Amino acid sequence: MSTQDFAELQLFITGPTFIRPEIREAGLLPEFGHRDSENNKRFKPIMANLKTLAGCADDFHVIILNGSGSSAMEATVRSLVADDETVLNVSVGAFGDLYHKMAVVNGKKAQQLKFAPGSAIDLAKLEAALTEHKPACVTFTHNETSTGVTNDLRAVCALIRKHGALPLVDGVSIFGGAAIDLSGSGAATYATSTQKSLALPAGFGILFASEEAIEKAKAVKNKGFATDINAQLGRASKSQTLTTPNCTLANQMCVQLDYIVNTEGIDKRFARHQQMRAMVADFVAGLPGFELLAPEGHRSPTLTAVRVPAGVTVAELKKVKEAMRAKGFLFDPGYGKLNTDLEEKGQRVLIRLGHMGDITPAMLAAYLDALKPELLK
Ligand SMILES: Cc1ncc(COP(=O)(O)O)c(C=O)c1O
Repeated sequence: MSTQDFAELQLFITGPTFIRPEIREAGLLPEFGHRDSENNKRFKPIMANLKTLAGCADDFHVIILNGSGSSAMEATVRSLVADDETVLNVSVGAFGDLYHKMAVVNGKKAQQLKFAPGSAIDLAKLEAALTEHKPACVTFTHNETSTGVTNDLRAVCALIRKHGALPLVDGVSIFGGAAIDLSGSGAATYATSTQKSLALPAGFGILFASEEAIEKAKAVKNKGFATDINAQLGRASKSQTLTTPNCTLANQMCVQLDYIVNTEGIDKRFARHQQMRAMVADFVAGLPGFELLAPEGHRSPTLTAVRVPAGVTVAELKKVKEAMRAKGFLFDPGYGKLNTDLEEKGQRVLIRLGHMGDITPAMLAAYLDALKPELLK
């Protein structure tokens, strides 16, 4: 094997995403002991900066779990849904379905409310489902990565709260790319991961858990080991992880979060994401037969899904992917299962453009310039 065989592609997929050279270099910082004072030098600022980025204070605990976003999501299902309670899983796409699957495979009493791909959560339909199922917890996706649809975090949480349930939110593909205002959001838990808008390698799930969630979890049985948020918090309150962390990633995360909060600045970061969303919308407007999937007001700042013209096939999009690879980019020819379903139904298929993390407007402009002729072929 030769490391020369590994292509250096710029990733415009929806995560993992581009990692700045400085953060690749930070992967060379020293290994450390996770029960030693060296651990605190990394994880104390990591946790403080995560709170700043989330827009919360001591009203939320930060728990860092080995694994990925799914690990944080599964921990909420295991720790917060008791055996005699119902969880309502609201889905606007593949990742809403994933939260439902986690509830089902963990033996929870789960109901699902599903919306068509490209739609956001319809509050009237959600209200009807809340009235019908009387759930103790409701899961939903803040930013649906398969379709580029963003749900209104505050409005959805408020409605769930009105019905006395706990909102458990999947924010995997938006955290770090938009203001969350977690303290005022109404969420009981908010799960995310490192490899999307934080522009780090994958390897940790990140869970923000309110005091109320922590209290409730104390009475829930059979929470598992690493999925038990009370056990996790025992270590997190000492700025540690429950199980041995990936020290390479912790070093990179410490450097990256310091950069995001203290060098780039979070307002600038969020504004840059909005600028890139607008660039992609303008690009799509200039492509005959192409159309944004998400409705106005629900368009993700971190990724965009686009309907391609009728008649364009998944096989043709895979050729675009290879043409873009030859130009040094990784293109996303749509979420696999969704495109297969759309193609089978004779409907227009999708491509996705990731514009998250540390991708700059200049990088995106170069990518779009390279992509345009391939899409118009
Ligand atoms: C919205 C959303 N939720 C959950 C996940 C699963 O996260 P992970 O792959 O980090 O476990 C993803 C991954 O793409 C996602 O985009």
